[in-house]
Amino acid sequence: MRKIAVLTSGGDAPGMNSAVVAVARTAAHFGMPLIGIHRGYNGIIHYESRLMEALEAKMTEVVTEPAEKALVGQIFEAVRARASVALPDMRPLLRKYRGQFALYEHFSDFVAEYPVFRKDLISLDLDTQLDIQARPGTHLHTARCLEFKDPANQMLAALTLTAIGVEGVVVVGGDGSFNGASKLCGFGMPCIGIPGTIDNDLTYTDMTLGFDTATNVCLRSAREVRATSRSHDRPHILEVMGRNCGDIALRTAIASHAEVCLVPEVPWSVEEVARRLQEAIDMGDSSALIVVAEGAYESMADFDVYGLLMAQGKQCFPGEPMTAHRLADCLKYMCKDADGHRAEVRATVVGYTQRGDSPTTFDAVFAFESGNMAVKLLLEGKENLVIGIKQNRMFSMPISQALEMQRDIKGHFNRAQYDTIQDMNSALPTR
Ligand code: ADP
Ligand code: F6P
Repeated sequence: MRKIAVLTSGGDAPGMNSAVVAVARTAAHFGMPLIGIHRGYNGIIHYESRLMEALEAKMTEVVTEPAEKALVGQIFEAVRARASVALPDMRPLLRKYRGQFALYEHFSDFVAEYPVFRKDLISLDLDTQLDIQARPGTHLHTARCLEFKDPANQMLAALTLTAIGVEGVVVVGGDGSFNGASKLCGFGMPCIGIPGTIDNDLTYTDMTLGFDTATNVCLRSAREVRATSRSHDRPHILEVMGRNCGDIALRTAIASHAEVCLVPEVPWSVEEVARRLQEAIDMGDSSALIVVAEGAYESMADFDVYGLLMAQGKQCFPGEPMTAHRLADCLKYMCKDADGHRAEVRATVVGYTQRGDSPTTFDAVFAFESGNMAVKLLLEGKENLVIGIKQNRMFSMPISQALEMQRDIKGHFNRAQYDTIQDMNSALPTR
């Protein structure tokens, strides 16, 4: 294998840089140059007609069979049309002539000839990359690239990478990014996925890269919030990330001994939360912590936020969604503190700081092992795989299988752990 590339896509996650460094070190170990792709799939969908003409000429020259020459013609006709209809199957051709279609020996010659790629494709040399391994965020930048859902752009990306001699791509991202990787494989560009997302919303793996770090940030916030809540005898709501998955909330709730945890996977109602909060206050727990996942409002039973808040003289507009701060306001009017006054419930939204910390030891090790494994898999000629971790051991499986497992995202949730927290609440000791 001559050269590989790496990109990060979807929401950034702590440990992405560390994974890129692991890919860089492993590639260097096997003597392969590494290309970094900026801004997820955005970095490889520039249409440069001169480059495509040069690639067509090169491919026509390299292939030997007349049928193959005809196929090359069809491929570039489709590229020029920039349309996603009836795209030819390039896989057999790219597999058979892997590496032989490269137009440039040196990447610097390529970007000198086509400056449009200068911003998005970079040669990742090991020394500079080592500096970023402990940094949060993603040095390669990330983006949501809706254009990549268009097969014409997927084909263009595979051809662009082929032109610069890339023979495999490591994609660090979530299930959306894996979908993209699978499409790129469909156009003959081998890809291996590393699960990089703080949400832990990938069913096939126990943990995703960044989840442990994000949870540690939330736990720190939970402890800080507890300290001030205790000082003021106030209950507190802590909202953490997780659009479809309550794992960050669940783990934070367990680690911080939260009294209530609200997640998208389990239906709940404001009345029940108010009842449990009141029960806690009545038992002497004046600083109960309610950890809520941002996606949990989706599983909330209908509740007239507007009616309740307006009746209390609070400004609110009909149809406004529930938020952490509104939930705090509602509970304020639904619960009484130990002196019979309104419970002074407060709310904190942890927000993007969850994505901004340096990777924990767990995530750094995960990043190292997955980056290393991804390169080795590509070297073994494997493709269309994702890497995961089960019982502290790394494994790989077909992307299609991993994506199929996503259908049961709710089944991934650790309901037993969740029930333990909820059950504990009704047996709170007097403080
Ligand atoms: P995540 O990877 O964290 O799940 P997204 O769902 O936003 O994040 O997906 C990241 C990117 O992956 C998208 O912006 C798009 O470029 C690419 N992608 C997502 N779904 C597809 C798809 N069905 N086909 C091709 N590319 C996709
Ligand atoms: O990385 C996943 C996630 O953090 C979700 O929990 C959150 O809803 C989303 O990304 C927000 O990301 P952005 O605002 O960057 O789209």
